[in-house]
Amino acid sequence: MRRSTGFQFRVCPRLRLPLLVCAGVILMASVASAENLQRMGRESFNNDWRFHRGAAEHAQNAQYDDASWRPLRLPHDWAIEGPFDIQYNARCGGLPFHGIGWYRKSFTLPETDRGKQVSVEFDGAMYNAEVWLNGHKVGQRPFGYMGFVCDLTEHLNFGDEANVIAVRLAPEDLSSRWYPGAGIYRNVWLDRKSPMHVDHWGTSITTPTVTAEQAVIAIETSIRCADANNCTGELQTTVLDASGQSIAQSTQPIEGKPEKAVTVSTELNVDQPKLWDISQPNLYHAVSKIVSADGEVLDRYVTRFGIRTIDFSVENGFVLNGQPVKFKGVCLHHDLGPLGAAVNRRATMRQLEIMKSMGVNAIRTSHNPPSPEQLECCDELGLVVMDESFDVWQIAKVENGYNKFFDEWSERDLRDMILRDRNHPSVIMWSIGNEILEQGRKDGWKQARRLTEICHDQDATRPVAAGFNYYPGAEVNGLAAEVDIVGWNYKPMRYQEVTEIHPDWIMCGSETSSCVSTRGEYHFPLVKYDTHPSKQVTSYDFIGPVWAYPPDFEFQSLEENPNILGEFVWTGFDYLGEPTPYGGRDNSTNGYWNGDWPVRSSFFGIVDLCGFPKDRFYLYQSQWTDTPMVHVLPHWTWPERIGEDTPVVCYTNCDEVELIVNGESQGRKARFSAPVTLPMSAKVVPEQTYDSKYRLQWVVPYQPGSIEVVGYVDEKPVSRKRFVTASAPKQIQLSADRSEIAADGMDLSFVTVQIQDGEGNFCPRADNLVKFSIDGPAEIAAVGNGNPASTEPFQADQRYAFNGLCMLIVRSKADVAGDIKITATSEGLDASTLSLHSTDND
Ligand code: GAL
Repeated sequence: MRRSTGFQFRVCPRLRLPLLVCAGVILMASVASAENLQRMGRESFNNDWRFHRGAAEHAQNAQYDDASWRPLRLPHDWAIEGPFDIQYNARCGGLPFHGIGWYRKSFTLPETDRGKQVSVEFDGAMYNAEVWLNGHKVGQRPFGYMGFVCDLTEHLNFGDEANVIAVRLAPEDLSSRWYPGAGIYRNVWLDRKSPMHVDHWGTSITTPTVTAEQAVIAIETSIRCADANNCTGELQTTVLDASGQSIAQSTQPIEGKPEKAVTVSTELNVDQPKLWDISQPNLYHAVSKIVSADGEVLDRYVTRFGIRTIDFSVENGFVLNGQPVKFKGVCLHHDLGPLGAAVNRRATMRQLEIMKSMGVNAIRTSHNPPSPEQLECCDELGLVVMDESFDVWQIAKVENGYNKFFDEWSERDLRDMILRDRNHPSVIMWSIGNEILEQGRKDGWKQARRLTEICHDQDATRPVAAGFNYYPGAEVNGLAAEVDIVGWNYKPMRYQEVTEIHPDWIMCGSETSSCVSTRGEYHFPLVKYDTHPSKQVTSYDFIGPVWAYPPDFEFQSLEENPNILGEFVWTGFDYLGEPTPYGGRDNSTNGYWNGDWPVRSSFFGIVDLCGFPKDRFYLYQSQWTDTPMVHVLPHWTWPERIGEDTPVVCYTNCDEVELIVNGESQGRKARFSAPVTLPMSAKVVPEQTYDSKYRLQWVVPYQPGSIEVVGYVDEKPVSRKRFVTASAPKQIQLSADRSEIAADGMDLSFVTVQIQDGEGNFCPRADNLVKFSIDGPAEIAAVGNGNPASTEPFQADQRYAFNGLCMLIVRSKADVAGDIKITATSEGLDASTLSLHSTDND
């Protein structure tokens, strides 16, 4: 893309083409009855599957006997079931994700479905999926992150005769740089459609004109018709507001064609539009109905969308609805910690809610297409998204990576990602790749151009980005010039230089910091190290690999370079695999990263694998939020350090902070007033130190008692945090993120388990084994404790506390509502109970 200053993405030029100009009548409806928001003929296809791990000859055939296979419900990730073992690659979580897995499901369809178009949609299957219906191959998809549809119509049985769908997956060893998961790990849907129907991912909704008075909603609907004799009818399009009331409608004739989809375009006006924004993510629905000549509703397709404008320019950066917005972003991998890769809407929502509470406004779906649920949650929470496609192009990063499929599949995968995701208001840019090695190739720009052009062709309303880590490789080899937004990974020290050379480039920090830490772990003295004998990492927030730097350094670089759009920190959550700084590649063990076993998950997260905040959470919060907050580290239970000088660090957004140790004030410090010197990598700054103004530090001799920080704004105390020295563990405290859950077999309650002393003080170093039992209509979905070096199974009824905490994840039972009682016991501690309730919403 040849980028010009002030490149604007607000208007989709294609929508201006005469060919597509709406021919329909625009009617402003008086308030009509609420429309059904279900897609017609679509149902969940998650239940009643059978699963077999390993090869199974002829299992694609309908007659195959799968009676001994394990019955289960999707989504399913077989690898998260474990066990952790040194025979698996710690880089990928130390879990058994590779090998063959089979799924089969038997189902019948009524005679009345004869003549319908029947398809099954997999939101994602990891990896190398092949699909058969009644022994006939109906689809395949190598890339595990992209959803796909298999048309079943041709080979179906109706009436009593059953159909069998069989899916074979074959994730390969050494195929990923992180934990990919394994299995049909996303949702599956069955669609039964009339011959004339809205195409799969068949609507495109843009908002070419938006003012406070009125928004123009341009809707292109792609319609398929499988029956040559019955391809006429009309398309009725209705826009619904958040309360489900019809606020705009149009009706247009359809002249379908059996050979290929036809596109019907309409423009509808919405008065006084409620914009989709970060603070108020208002959403609308478009209902597209196909009605036959004799008035029968043949299809109803529902698309949720938002009305918003996005502009990107050198002058104003990223502008959402006329307001400049800086990315306070995080990168997220797709796994859900102890739940593995199996998609769960509530777990996804919770991840994003935790991020939002830190002040996050942007998510990068590193490094692959996200689950549909993740984008839905971002739409609902008001988080903008860099939707990323690939971690690799043609040049391999690992032995069996996506590069094997790139030539054949990259265009299809990229186009499908855009088709699937284009109506999400949260998605504001596409990313064609992360740290692709083609940056080092003279002709690397060619591939960058090809992929950028595909994005522009598929969606002219959003810019295209990439995350570059080679400087100046990405520049001299022409890749950076091909994208609209140049993302830099770990290059804050270059922002100024690149800006001077390329004043017309729009740039962001696509991946930043990569600081590492373990929740609740503190090592003295404060020195930089590569690894530590404990196989943990201190939480003083300055350790990282050679390319990394403390969060503070990016804050300052962004302040000094206001043209940079903001940052996406690596990473919001800890994730399974990539246990840097531990587990270097060891060729004697298959090229695995198992040198420091059992370290098997990342330290990069701002929160741990369970979602418990590390100290860094508060450092980001202090920069990204305005509600007065103050945080202090370390904890104050150090029986072996009595009398020793102990560094105390404070993060705050208040004007001043007072430190009080054992009741005695250590004085106040004003925010930004007393820089703290941090060790830095020579790769980042030659001096190897950096003075951060974003943290305050005291050194005090440790004595048991208490430590407290008080934040002041305008001389008034507005926020405080206090830790008391704990005595021996005595009790368990349980607290749930939600005590009321839906009885749908999917909803979750995340129960935090805290070990306390007899006075109710948190025991920050407790490691008691806690056992769980549940009475009532719920089950244990997983347990965890955020320890990156543990081989305890996630699917268990017990867990050791790690630095005082562990977690129980409770899942409701489908269709059984009622009271749920959780009991937690631990030898030598008082037991504890907690009441939850599951409610049937139907
Ligand atoms: C980046 C890479 C990420 C992750 C990170 C760790 O180079 O894009 O996927 O590996 O390093 O610091």
